[in-house]
Amino acid sequence: MKVLIHQTQTTAADCVAGLFADRLTQTPDTVLGLATGGTMEAVYERLIARHQDGTVSFNQAQSFNLDEYVGLTPDHPCSYWHYMREKLFNHVDLDPDRTFLPHGDAPDSEAEAARYEAAIVDAGDIGLQLLGLGANGHIGFNEPTSSLASHTRIKTLTRSTRQANARYFDAFADVPRLAITMGIGTIMRADEIVLLAFGAGKADVVAQMIEGPVSAACPASILQMHRKVTVVLDEAAASGLALRAYYEEVHPEVRDPAI
Ligand code: F6R
Repeated sequence: MKVLIHQTQTTAADCVAGLFADRLTQTPDTVLGLATGGTMEAVYERLIARHQDGTVSFNQAQSFNLDEYVGLTPDHPCSYWHYMREKLFNHVDLDPDRTFLPHGDAPDSEAEAARYEAAIVDAGDIGLQLLGLGANGHIGFNEPTSSLASHTRIKTLTRSTRQANARYFDAFADVPRLAITMGIGTIMRADEIVLLAFGAGKADVVAQMIEGPVSAACPASILQMHRKVTVVLDEAAASGLALRAYYEEVHPEVRDPAI
């Protein structure tokens, strides 16, 4: 695991956008794995800016999002389809026919999950997967105790996840209880993974993910078993790491780009 500790959220988000842009430049037809949530907004803002200044094109790429709430139509304002259109798709040159999310309103959610997993396999699996981190250690909506080998399926959201996401809904009761999410096994097949976490509220779980045991109790800890993961943090999110000084020594260029 490469652990990059930035002084600010701004430089951390710049770093993730830069990694994305570099990948698209080197491999324009990359299959992108995309995430939603508050943390990703800063990344998408930067990717849009890079697209507008002509330094990034998505026109040969395709994308698969991690997850969608069961029961929400793609035009529901709280759906992840809606989020992605607003935060990224409407502003860049990704082909709408090559941007994929699970359909939360499919009549048979389990069949939809199986179809989505098969579509990812057909696309050759994810080339570059972007991840946020839940305060309970989830990646996608793989809540604690999720099978570390799971494929795309229905998961019941924890109360803490529903509470964390209630800010997007009118009321807590409106937050769906179920989601379709890529599985942990699906995510682990990605060629490369970049995880971004901000803030003191994530410090404990960041430490568990990087330095704790690999355990379904903290699903993100499975990333210790992946060959190519970059974890990008701001100082607050890194504040619980026992080996922080070591990570900073390994990557001095993060603090001083002149190195
Ligand atoms: C969203 C997703 C989630 C979020 C995580 C962090 O597609 O897969 O795992 O990345 O819940 O969300 P924020 O960034 O809002 O703290």
